[in-house]
Amino acid sequence: MTQPAVDTPAGEQQPVNVAVTGAAGQIGYSLLWRLVNGEVFGARRVNLRLLEVGSGLKAAKGVAMELMDSAFPLLSDITITDDPMVGFKDAHSVFLVGAKPRQAGQERADLLAANGGIFGPQGKALNEVASRDVRVLVVGNPANTNAAILAANAPDIDPRQITAMTRLDHNRALGQLAQKLDVPVTSLSRMTVWGNHSASQFPDVSELLVDGKPAADQLDKNWLTDEFIPRVAKRGAEIIEVRGHSSAASAASCAIDHMRDWFNGIPEGDWVSVARPSDGSYGVPEGIVSSFPCRLVDGQWEIVQGLAIDEFQRERIDATVAELVEEFDTVKELGLLS
Ligand code: NAD
Ligand code: LMR
Repeated sequence: MTQPAVDTPAGEQQPVNVAVTGAAGQIGYSLLWRLVNGEVFGARRVNLRLLEVGSGLKAAKGVAMELMDSAFPLLSDITITDDPMVGFKDAHSVFLVGAKPRQAGQERADLLAANGGIFGPQGKALNEVASRDVRVLVVGNPANTNAAILAANAPDIDPRQITAMTRLDHNRALGQLAQKLDVPVTSLSRMTVWGNHSASQFPDVSELLVDGKPAADQLDKNWLTDEFIPRVAKRGAEIIEVRGHSSAASAASCAIDHMRDWFNGIPEGDWVSVARPSDGSYGVPEGIVSSFPCRLVDGQWEIVQGLAIDEFQRERIDATVAELVEEFDTVKELGLLS
């Protein structure tokens, strides 16, 4: 008798269709191998759809050749295309990485017009051909507003299924805090990043726990405001400055964390930072894609309710949300929301 390769319930053996745009780019090169090694989709086989612009298709073919050469047992099929209607067909999990990265000295807002035009057509294609339970993560910057454009162009997809990545900011904060407190990152829970994936973001430790106990008393207020918050918020620029390119392996790793958690859940009692369309919680206008503390409820990222917000937090949240509203108004004026 033949043994199944992996012992999982029969219903979980259906292949998962996973689309990645920008597949031949820096982030794609770190991301793709971890999509087929079982850590995100468990024992399900993976049909990979690699999306690139025309000039990137040859390099994407090279990436596909290397994936084949890695002989992953769970890699079922690879499609290479520049057509979102092909790449997103019946997609269950979509990573929208393809965009133009920021150069030294540029702010994310500079990328609005350049990258905004990509996400309208991609939203329309998702709306038309993706699986109705598709889970979408926008990584390409400006990620929050690109996700807002996408959601506006995909009216038949539940907006909660369209997210943008602030997990990198969340994990950057955990890295800094673990070093400061001299504990492993696994000791930390309930970290929150609010707002935009930009220098205006608010990494907030008000609810942070260390080994289940409040951490606020162990952290110096001046260190938090003068070093921690700006260090995390400006880490992207710091990496560009030091490495000479925008972060790639860390971004891919955090995209994996985001999607893995979405498919598999997070530890009881904890939450993670997810940028999703606001439902009006914490005074963030509806439709704006903002980072919030989120937990999974019935497979959707729901915003953790009832957290006390003091004056300092209010000011910081309002500032980053004001930037998001400004970006939203700009793309509206550019006609990118329909
Ligand atoms: P890269 O230039 O190495 O790769 C981008 C790839 O996207 C290129 O191969 C390009 O041909 C492709 N591409 C461009 N438009 C496309 C489209 N419409 N469809 C399909 N493919 C397309 O860049 P990278 O370093 O991989 O970064 C990608 C994006 O991710 C950038 O916008 C960067 O700023 C952003 N980023 C976001 C975070 C985050 O935390 N949200 C972190 C790091 C980087
Ligand atoms: C990052 O945070 O590393 C990326 O968003 C790249 C950037 O432009 O900062």
